[in-house]
Amino acid sequence: MDFSDVIATRRAVNYFDPDRDVPDALLREVVEMAATTPSSFNLQPWSLMVLRDKEEKLRLQKQAMGQGKVSEAPVTLIVLADRRGWADECPFTEKNFQEMIQAGAMTEERRAWFSKARTNLYGTSEASQLAFATKNTGFFAMALMLAARSKGLHTHPMDGFSMDGVMKEFHIPETYWVPLLISVGYFNDAQELAPPKWRKTYDEIVVNF
Ligand SMILES: Cc1cc2nc3c(=O)[nH]c(=O)nc-3n(C[C@H](O)[C@H](O)[C@H](O)COP(=O)(O)O)c2cc1C
Repeated sequence: MDFSDVIATRRAVNYFDPDRDVPDALLREVVEMAATTPSSFNLQPWSLMVLRDKEEKLRLQKQAMGQGKVSEAPVTLIVLADRRGWADECPFTEKNFQEMIQAGAMTEERRAWFSKARTNLYGTSEASQLAFATKNTGFFAMALMLAARSKGLHTHPMDGFSMDGVMKEFHIPETYWVPLLISVGYFNDAQELAPPKWRKTYDEIVVNF
């Protein structure tokens, strides 16, 4: 699908075809496309919980204001943002460091510098940790929705849920924040797609202070 068609036809769809599953291989392809998302220092502080089981999705739906699409879509993703994804104790920071060494972009001698840079940029307050986690994960989530659309799928992003409820119900460790849920599937053609929503214009977006 041409990128302009991907952009033009991505919608937050409310109705998913109950008879069309999303094969594992297709979901994997979409997630791996989204994994090319850029991130601060390439730290990639995102994770996904993939819910397919009806009973599990119903448990999530209960925490998500009863939104039907959560359980009607073949797949609903809990998108996780790791607020400690910049810190030394996160295994991916070490992987990141080693990968950079292998690529010749980093030397072992700069370990302390790299740790301090991450801490100073992202770890100085609760707010900076949350911003780090959610801004990067937001880009990932958007890429995932566009990747899904490019493969003929539709999605629905949701933040209408109880964060505490979802964290407790799914035993999510405290270091994570849950920026959104994303339901994934095929649009149910028996339903009518809502008309496109208004958007801010260029002149409304560009500001000066
Ligand atoms: C972060 C985020 C959270 C959202 N949460 C909900 C939600 O909980 N329930 C819902 O029906 N729509 C939700 N939406 C969908 C928006 O209402 C929708 O994207 C917007 O109205 C524009 O419509 P479109 O995506 O079809 O262009 C959410 C969208 C985003 C990006």
